[in-house]
Amino acid sequence: MIITRNIEEFNQARGNLSNSIGFVPTMGALHEGHISLIKQAQEDNDIVIVSIFINPTQFLEGEDLETYPRREQGDIEICKRAGVDILFMPNISDMYSSDELKILAPLKAGYILEGESRAGHFDGMLQIVMKLLNLVNPTKAYFGKKDAQQLSLIKKMVKDYFIRVEIVACNIIRDNQGLALSSRNIYLNPSQKITALKLSNSLNVAVKSIWQGELEVDKIKDIMVNVLDGVTKIEYVEIVDYEFRAIDKIKINNTIILVACFVGDTRLIDNIWI
Ligand code: PAF
Repeated sequence: MIITRNIEEFNQARGNLSNSIGFVPTMGALHEGHISLIKQAQEDNDIVIVSIFINPTQFLEGEDLETYPRREQGDIEICKRAGVDILFMPNISDMYSSDELKILAPLKAGYILEGESRAGHFDGMLQIVMKLLNLVNPTKAYFGKKDAQQLSLIKKMVKDYFIRVEIVACNIIRDNQGLALSSRNIYLNPSQKITALKLSNSLNVAVKSIWQGELEVDKIKDIMVNVLDGVTKIEYVEIVDYEFRAIDKIKINNTIILVACFVGDTRLIDNIWI
């Protein structure tokens, strides 16, 4: 595996590779979810590139930028073991200059749900993803469905800006109790981990109600809120179509059920695609 720590080193390694390239952008603290993206990228492509960059512009004032888990050595080992070809680990000064052009999230889809709770987060996320896609110039780039709105906005940016890449959506990976894997799960103590299972439980109960014939969005949301009783704070329980438009009734094969909650000080999200 070639490890590159700045743009020059990366460009040298990336060179004029004409093979198909699968790209997995990450913020590190890699877990089985990231490994599943890497595996998918390997299946689909000749070369796999992973980036690790904790992007400051997607963290809001008061969020966990300073404490976000940093595990450089462990991440390098994980990438080596997974058979990654090129690892890109730039510094902030490699990725940002002063007085930059800004990418703004779309005013409708970018400022609801996560975009409403974390106003500005998607601007920074899209900005770094645009930079990374331009730099890496991959054939396909891989993102998890856990960050469903992020995935949808990246697809929209790629379409709106005519970026030549295929965005591949990968399934959510869960632990054996159902908790969706996230780098932030390490903030949870054992009792909070049990409370955190209420997120996936609420989604499972919603799906069960749908298969039993309940299609009214408001009723399903009420059922979910009941299951979530005991979390520190519910930020939202929402049901939308695959374009993130509000719906009144569940549409099979075109519905995402989303939940965001605080458990203690840790903000968790989860979702399920129907
Ligand atoms: O999902 C993430 O880890 C980040 O938002 C991403 C896509 C790597 C951009 O910083």
